[in-house]
Amino acid sequence: MKVSVSRRDFLRQSFVFSAVAGLGLGSLPSLAAPRKADAEGLHWLMIGDWGYEKPEGQEAVAAAMRTYVQSHSLKPDALLMLGDNWYGELPGGVNSTRWKTHFEELYPREVFDCPAYAVLGNHDYQRMPESKVDSELAYAKKGGTRWTMPSRWYSFEFPTTKPLVTVIALDSNMPHPIGAQAAGVNFTLTQEERAEQLRWLKAELEKPRTTPYLVVMAHHPIYSNGPHGDHQMLIADWEPLLREHKAHLYLAGHDHDMQHLEFEGHPTSFVLSGGGGADLYTLKIDEARRGPYAAKAYGFSHLQIDPDKLTLLHMDQSGKVIHGFTKTPEGAVKILS
Ligand SMILES: [Fe+2]
Repeated sequence: MKVSVSRRDFLRQSFVFSAVAGLGLGSLPSLAAPRKADAEGLHWLMIGDWGYEKPEGQEAVAAAMRTYVQSHSLKPDALLMLGDNWYGELPGGVNSTRWKTHFEELYPREVFDCPAYAVLGNHDYQRMPESKVDSELAYAKKGGTRWTMPSRWYSFEFPTTKPLVTVIALDSNMPHPIGAQAAGVNFTLTQEERAEQLRWLKAELEKPRTTPYLVVMAHHPIYSNGPHGDHQMLIADWEPLLREHKAHLYLAGHDHDMQHLEFEGHPTSFVLSGGGGADLYTLKIDEARRGPYAAKAYGFSHLQIDPDKLTLLHMDQSGKVIHGFTKTPEGAVKILS
């Protein structure tokens, strides 16, 4: 599964470049042009690793998201919150003031009038002193919020009429490989819960799919060029299912950077958007060795879903496009550069 320099060269050479190729990154935002009222396309924005204790990074990325949406006159249809939603203490749990100051107000309804689909990260799996997992599930049930987390793993089709995409949201907090619970405030899924989720995932994937796209999202990446590296338990449990069922995208965070990895013959594009606010990590595998893209950067991502293609753009904290690609329902990928 390792990709060499020649593999990257292969990717660069063999993908059919888009009409904007060669025009420079500055031309990419035109892909995110305002959606016409009668158009079918959807606009989703995503961030991972965002609810950090030192708020400067999160606030800068959130400001860039707001500016991006407003300057392109976008009407986002969904936010994807890719886990590590709350670092540190969440005083008061479901009633914490952090919900208001660092979720509802930083990503305000006036700009993002849409559901915010969330998955759980390792920093959510902490008791400080109460379980942040329980608080996040309870906050979704409170009403009057866009925060959407019906359970630790769930699925949905979007939109409800004439859906274009099937999304499976998973809990990637796998048990410690040698069976010991993590120490201190941290906890994980149990082995029984891991098995229960896997049975559920297989059953979901066996259902006849009526949408052109299948997207799987979770906090931990299956493959990552960042310091956390490749995740052997997810490679064992989930990777064969993504391959078998031809998932178009696997979306994750956890490493604090922005990535897009492709593997020869694999139907799934692995996207990592972990620049939502927490301190950045230094990559351990350069994109020249395994790519096509990996960068130590704050930022967010924009997924445009059209009937004929997906368009994924990574943006930095100034709102500048730093990487992009498209993917057809049949799985053809074009790198935008
Ligand atoms: Fe994480």
